[in-house]
Amino acid sequence: MAIRKVARLGNPVLRKKTRTLSPDEIRSPEIQHLIQDLRDTQAEYGGIGIAAPQIEVPLRVAILEFSESSARYPGMGAHPLTVFINAKVTVLDSHEQSFWEGCLSVPGLRGKVSRPRKIRVDYLDENAEPCSITAEGFLATVFQHELDHLDGVLFIDRIKTAPGATELAFTEEYQRFHAGSSSLDES
Ligand code: NI
Repeated sequence: MAIRKVARLGNPVLRKKTRTLSPDEIRSPEIQHLIQDLRDTQAEYGGIGIAAPQIEVPLRVAILEFSESSARYPGMGAHPLTVFINAKVTVLDSHEQSFWEGCLSVPGLRGKVSRPRKIRVDYLDENAEPCSITAEGFLATVFQHELDHLDGVLFIDRIKTAPGATELAFTEEYQRFHAGSSSLDES
């Protein structure tokens, strides 16, 4: 289909709330094209998840897919392609974990973000079938990051910097000083 340009920090589309879709809409050619565009764009930019607002479409659609060999998130495991529409999160374990997150819409930066470590996500898939997945660890963080996009929230909004801490870094400094040190701090 098509590689789309990713909206970056400062573009108001990233701050808009998104609209849910009906099952008939999900099965329409327009939404099937949107899903394919999300896949093509994510692959081109090297992401592990992308939400529709990031390609300037304010609908509650996002995808997630990553492999062991992800260049941006090496060693974080793998997860097959998941298309999640109208998703809702339920926290199953509110103990928080933190990972250094990045975002295709905030290029060149990483930030250490704490989120609940175990969640359930209820959603409709690309055929409008109801699905449910329980996620923990890094996968739980990826889901929460993508779902935040659907509510106009970016990871930089969630950084709680303690005095003297450096929890926002350029990619190069992240790799030099922080990679591997604290990707799974639990608190
Ligand atoms: Ni993002």
